Amino acid sequence: MRRKLVVGNWKMYGRLASNKSLLEGVIAGLSGMNAAAYAVCVPYPYLHQAQEMLRGTSVAWGAQNLSQFAEGAYTAEVAAGMLTDFGCRYVIVGHSERRGLFAESNETVAAKVDAAIKSGLTPIVCLGETLAEREAGITEQVVGAQLDAVVSVVGVAALAKTVIAYEPVWAIGTGKTASPAQAQAVHAFIRQRVAQQDGQVAQGLCILYGGSVKPNNAAELFSMSDIDGGLIGGASLAANDFVAICRAAQN
Ligand code: PGA
Repeated sequence: MRRKLVVGNWKMYGRLASNKSLLEGVIAGLSGMNAAAYAVCVPYPYLHQAQEMLRGTSVAWGAQNLSQFAEGAYTAEVAAGMLTDFGCRYVIVGHSERRGLFAESNETVAAKVDAAIKSGLTPIVCLGETLAEREAGITEQVVGAQLDAVVSVVGVAALAKTVIAYEPVWAIGTGKTASPAQAQAVHAFIRQRVAQQDGQVAQGLCILYGGSVKPNNAAELFSMSDIDGGLIGGASLAANDFVAICRAAQN
């Protein structure tokens, strides 16, 4: 059985003081809960704070992006090795906000996944279609191409060192969640596509769902056979909501 994972994506929210109370709430709420794994991905400037507060707890931490380059004259970029310096376990790669607002291509995302794996980070690789793509009936083509671009660079075996997050763009921050059946169908498609190349990797692959996961819909989503947890945006900014979603992953 795959162990469930719930990851908070704070996006560009937070300040030292509010992070402190949020993390205190998360730590208290999750203490003694070990049936699933938990993490928060925070803005770069707060990695040190996350490390100081979460070290020794059951909550891991990570970043929301990284450079595909190891070092060099790349003003304002952040390298994988800098993230591991701050104890990061995870890094989100290819979130739709990066792809859409900051023009990250499938090729760039693949290079970043490769850089993350080579530094011992676990990339959380985001895949997902827009509303127009879903309505045009090309969800599988879009998600398949996003996945294939990564596999062609890192190889199928390396997927064992990644987490996949299916995040339909139309469900992110909109309050519109994919129905459990809609999400399950795409998760099964992703697993099946990996299984065509490596059945064992496919079986072990952790595939998160993201897009308006809330305390009131988490349990149903997480009960689907190919949904292995969640990537949580808005609801990860309220300790009670995030803890409630984590609790739903325990059962
Ligand atoms: P949301 O964001 O939970 O606010 O919809 C999810 C995400 O973008 O990872």
